[in-house]
Amino acid sequence: MAFQTRSPHSPLLPIMLFICLSFTTAVPSPYAPSYACDTHKNPSLKKYAFCNTKLDIKTRVKDLVKRLTLQEKAGSIVSMTDSIPRLGIPSYGWWSEALHGVSDTGPSTWFNASVIPGATSFPQVILTAASFNESLFYSIGKVVSTEARAMYNTGVAGLTFWSPNVNIFRDPRWGRGQETPGEDPVLTSRYGSRYVRGLQEREDGDKERLKVGACCKHYTAYDLDNWTSVDRFHFNAIVTKQDLEDTYNPPFKSCVLDGNVASVMCSYNQVNGKPTCGDKELLLDTVRGEWKLNGYISSDCDSVEVMFRNQKYAKTPEEATADALNAGLDLNCGDSLKNFSASAVKKGLVKQSVVDRAVTNSFTTLMRLGFFDGNPSKQFYGKLGKKDVCTPAHQDLAREAARQGIVLLKNSVRSLPLRKHSIKTLAVIGPNANATRAMIGNYAGVPCKYTSPLKGLSDYVKTVYEEGCDVTCNSNAMFGKAKDAAAKADAVVLVVGSDLSIEAEAHDRTKIYLPGQQNLLVSEVAKAAKGPVILVIMSGGGMDVEFAKSDPKITSILWVGVPGQEGGGALADVVFGRHNPSGRLPMTWYPGSYTDLVPMTNTLMRPNPKMGLPGQTYRFYTGKTVFPFGFGLSYTSYVYKDIKAPKHVSIPLHRAHPCRSSKCNDIDAAVCHNLHFDVDVTVTNMGKKSGSHTVMLFSSPPMIYNAPQKELIDFKKVWLAPWQRTVVRFRVDVCKSLSVADENGIRKVALGPYVLQLGDLKHNVSLKV
Ligand SMILES: *[C@@H]1O[C@H](CO)[C@@H](O)[C@H](O)[C@H]1NC(C)=O
Ligand SMILES: *[C@@H]1O[C@H](CO)[C@@H](O)[C@H](O)[C@H]1NC(C)=O
Ligand SMILES: *[C@@H]1O[C@H](CO)[C@@H](O)[C@H](O)[C@H]1NC(C)=O
Ligand SMILES: *[C@@H]1O[C@H](CO)[C@@H](O)[C@H](O)[C@H]1NC(C)=O
Ligand SMILES: *[C@@H]1O[C@H](CO)[C@@H](O)[C@H](O)[C@H]1NC(C)=O
Ligand SMILES: *[C@@H]1O[C@H](CO)[C@@H](O)[C@H](O)[C@H]1NC(C)=O
Repeated sequence: MAFQTRSPHSPLLPIMLFICLSFTTAVPSPYAPSYACDTHKNPSLKKYAFCNTKLDIKTRVKDLVKRLTLQEKAGSIVSMTDSIPRLGIPSYGWWSEALHGVSDTGPSTWFNASVIPGATSFPQVILTAASFNESLFYSIGKVVSTEARAMYNTGVAGLTFWSPNVNIFRDPRWGRGQETPGEDPVLTSRYGSRYVRGLQEREDGDKERLKVGACCKHYTAYDLDNWTSVDRFHFNAIVTKQDLEDTYNPPFKSCVLDGNVASVMCSYNQVNGKPTCGDKELLLDTVRGEWKLNGYISSDCDSVEVMFRNQKYAKTPEEATADALNAGLDLNCGDSLKNFSASAVKKGLVKQSVVDRAVTNSFTTLMRLGFFDGNPSKQFYGKLGKKDVCTPAHQDLAREAARQGIVLLKNSVRSLPLRKHSIKTLAVIGPNANATRAMIGNYAGVPCKYTSPLKGLSDYVKTVYEEGCDVTCNSNAMFGKAKDAAAKADAVVLVVGSDLSIEAEAHDRTKIYLPGQQNLLVSEVAKAAKGPVILVIMSGGGMDVEFAKSDPKITSILWVGVPGQEGGGALADVVFGRHNPSGRLPMTWYPGSYTDLVPMTNTLMRPNPKMGLPGQTYRFYTGKTVFPFGFGLSYTSYVYKDIKAPKHVSIPLHRAHPCRSSKCNDIDAAVCHNLHFDVDVTVTNMGKKSGSHTVMLFSSPPMIYNAPQKELIDFKKVWLAPWQRTVVRFRVDVCKSLSVADENGIRKVALGPYVLQLGDLKHNVSLKV
């Protein structure tokens, strides 16, 4: 989403003030939620079928749409809708955000010290994803939607939240990589669908209705914001059908099919010369047609205008509006559709029935949210309010989520965990050692509070703090003091990395080393230190920290992502061993030279030796890494043995299938649905500490169609007591998990040996007909 200067006096305000003046007893807050069909205040509304909660939603929406004039329809499909007083419909602000907690990034949510001052700020998604724990993804979604509903009831948030961001973190430079679940399509899909379900599913089990509306964005191949002279408003991603099918689109498909998401948002960029918001094949044919979205397709803010103004793809704003509507867009963040839909219809560029479709899809979502059911305080979630925001349990979950995500990258001679009793003084050093805002990153709100690393560690032992330098680290003036502190202390925790000045929306990196002179700070402090040195990297993207990996004075390395409001507490729990780390990297950490080799504009996933391109993400990248995808240590060790899985799997084919009589290399994945086999593996905790551990099942398909060299097909997280063993079972869906996309983006199952990999163990399974 684009930045927009947000006026606290949004157009919503006069209406809400009006409502609250007449109902001061019902809602103590100075604000009140926006809702339609207030039959209590205006009994004449009872005559409208769309206000009749006993009728089904389809009938109600149909009744509503037929009552609207063309301009009223146009004014209903933009992010800040026009009110329709004659029908008792107030203005509604569609744009709220809840990426990792309710956020005030969108204009329809705000915090106010006297109403709701803040909301629980969970870790940025990249760190939560590193937990590889699906039930955690769901639990966070549930808590966020409870706080969101509570804020709606209080009149300070909408019901529709344009989260999560499920774009693939294709390039380490991307400033918004922190918002995503990483570079893997399976992990991203699982995260997206589970988080969406957590947000949307109602506790009363009503499947037709929504707790809040989620939105998977930005469809599709959006992974560049502002790199050198290229920006997202002008970027044309050249994407093959194959890459679209096996990398860029799977998370969106899963959001719709597995998550039942209420909305998909198209992006700013073009894909193969067409703006995504004006691409019928992407929207109407795929999202609406093939995946059967039950909800609305939204634009980015305002990507319809971008089609005309920045991209000159459309000659007039009416044309851009018509292109978007005809392609399947239902709602516009911005006001292009309000300004130009009626004239586009009059000029014959778009049919009124197409506008009707857009209004229908948008209002159906609001209807499912209870917006047309009268006073929300009388509805299922009516009791939620201020008391349900920032509860101790919610803030504990924020700390737990950060703990589960933190990745231990190095731990020589078991320098970690530190023993509390052997530390008289701990030096806490570095630009992020006392971080607050840097812990919540992009699309944050106002947190309930902050537990900085310094605060978290000080709760365990006595600390001394030295900043060393700020995040940009242009000066070494304070290095001396940092070195002195390290020389005197029993151990050092050095917290470095980035913040929003380095990685952010509209701001990609050009280098993937630690910023400025941070490397020097780290090396000099480590050299001066008397005790163990724990290097903590707080960042969204990976950093080339090869120098620290090989420096014997740096005994441990931890990556804490962008860890949220409780990040410092979670870090301390890991450092002092209250929590045994189990996070695994959700993205490859590339060497710094990668950025010299690969332009960020290269959207081709597969390696291209002729062009000197090594491929992107662990599925295709053939070069050296600093840390690979899935890497992560623990305070104990886990051993795998006894893979039990078939060696051969036969795919039953019809008698007439040509591959029964002549030799084939592959068959269409569509012929073999519902063909499964099980893979069992015994996992043992070989240490004295209990812990959680993610078992990842990878597959390497036969060499065909430039298939990925290796890909994650499933993962399971288990908890094991010391010396405990368990059998972990994976059910492999042959056509879904073992199929590969051909050059035309058609899924094929290769006939031949697949190598399954669990840790160091490998197992061949051969597919035949
Ligand atoms: C918060 O709400 C109170 C009560 O209506 C109001 O007086 C105050 O100006 C608001 N503050 C902000 C920053 O909007
Ligand atoms: C729509 O109209 C309003 C009011 O005239 C104007 O301020 C706004 O810039 C217009 N938006 C676009 C995208 O043209
Ligand atoms: C740490 O940051 C907090 C919040 O910005 C500040 O109040 C505090 O003084 C800082 N601590 C030190 C030791 O500088
Ligand atoms: C890109 O970044 C530059 C420099 O940081 C900034 O001046 C420019 O406004 C940005 N452009 C966009 C489209 O975000
Ligand atoms: C996954 O997260 C949930 C929710 O925090 C937690 O209860 C559970 O123990 C975690 N699973 C494992 C295996 O760590
Ligand atoms: C498994 O398959 C791989 C690749 O096809 C092959 O190199 C290897 O020898 C096979 N291993 C066994 C035990 O058959």
